[in-house]
This record gives sequence, C-alpha cells and structure tokens, in this order.
Amino acid sequence: MNKQRKLIIAGNWKMNKTVAEALDLVNGLKRELANIKEVDIVVCPPFTALPAVSQSILDSNIRLGAQNMSEHNVGAYTGEIAAAMLKEFSVRYVVLGHSERRQYQLESDALIAKKALAAHTASLKPIVCVGETLAEREAGSTEAVVARQVKGSLAGLSKDQMEETIVAYEPVWAIGTGKTATTEQAQEVHAFIRKMLTELFDEAIAKRVRIQYGGSVKPANARELMAQPDVDGALVGGASLEVRSFSDIVKNSI
Ligand code: 13P
Repeated sequence: MNKQRKLIIAGNWKMNKTVAEALDLVNGLKRELANIKEVDIVVCPPFTALPAVSQSILDSNIRLGAQNMSEHNVGAYTGEIAAAMLKEFSVRYVVLGHSERRQYQLESDALIAKKALAAHTASLKPIVCVGETLAEREAGSTEAVVARQVKGSLAGLSKDQMEETIVAYEPVWAIGTGKTATTEQAQEVHAFIRKMLTELFDEAIAKRVRIQYGGSVKPANARELMAQPDVDGALVGGASLEVRSFSDIVKNSI
C-alpha cells in the first residue's frame, strides 16, 4: 500500500446484534482478520454490546467504536451516554452526525460540533459523517451541502484535534440502497472535503486527515473505491454485519 494515510475500515452495526450475536460476529472477525496489519479495523456495535465486545477484542487487532454519544459530560440527560462511559470499555472511536441521526434525531451541525469537541476532550476519535441526499445531488447542491456540514460539524476544533478527527463522506442516497457512488463521484467529493480542510485548517493537516467513504460498500466495490487517492477508508453498514463480507472488504482494501 503506497498511501501515506493508513486505511481505516469501520463497521457501523447500527441497531443490530444482541450481545450473543455481537460476540459471534466479532469472534469470526478475529479469526478471519488476525493477520491484518495494513489496515486499522474498527467495529461499532450498539451500546449494549460494547462491554462484551470490548472484552473479546482485547487481544486482537480490532478496535472499538461507538455509534453516538452525548455532547454533555454528566448529568440529567435521560437516555444519553457520555464519553467517559464509553472510555470505560476502551472505546477509541465514535461515529458522530450519521445521516440517520441527522434525519431521525434531527441532529444539527452545531450539535455535532459540540459532540466532536466533547469526544476529543475524552481522547475519543470522532468519525464525523457528512453527505447529501438524492434531491440535493440532483439539484446540483452536493458541494454546498457538504461544505456547510464540514464547516459546521468541525467548528471549534483545534488543528491538533482536527488531525485526530476522521471524516466520513456518506451520500444519503447510497446508504442501505445498494447504490454506490461511482469511484469518480466519491473521489470528487473526497477531494473537495480535503480542499475545505486545507482552507479551514492547513494543508499539512488536510493531507493527514483520513476521509472514509460510506454507502453500500461491499467486497466487490471496496478495492476500486479504496484505490482512489483521497479515499482513506470505509464506513460499512449492512456488509459489516456478516463475517465473510466485512472480512472480504478489509482484505480487498489492502
Ligand atoms: P450501508 O453500507 O448499509 O449502505 O450503510 C452505510 C452506513 O450508513 C455506514 O455508516
């Protein structure tokens, strides 16, 4: 691999897997992926499976991510989970501003920015998601939407924090639909995001930040997508729920 940025392949399990199912999946992944050193592998189970999965991957090359967290550190926020609670289970990454949360929980860029800051304060690496809907793409506003989300969701981060932040480009129309962005479409938006990071932070940081692609990533399209110069990894939904497909995505990415 001649990329200067190490690839990061993360599985977002969304609201899937009981503890027993999560352990089955992660045990299979441990067996299949034991020898992989070229890629950072992350799994993001639901909160309830974090303790068990955390224990299970202690001696492996698989790292743990969460799918969301509160912007607050502690207090009267019923149903919320704070960064410190994730740290108890050796969580290292946290997905923030996923389009499903933007859509169903009405998360705003301003809220996501607060969460990203709270994640950094706890030394968690945020995976900040951005991406346009089909209507926005068809209206020709992909760059305007992504620019607004990138600027708003990363607002207030220091340069050091930005370097430890991952950006995930997930076009909403490609999520769970089987429709993947073409390699050209993905590369184009990734390059645009990197250009924005140069303007908002600086060129050295923009070069180092990892920008993942998400949206119907599968073993069959992973290689081509990951070969794009500005695609530094994948955020995988459906295909991360089975040992075979997620392992093949990881292996095909190398
Ligand atoms: P799919 O891979 O199922 O399209 O989901 C992508 C995603 O939302 C990852 O966060």
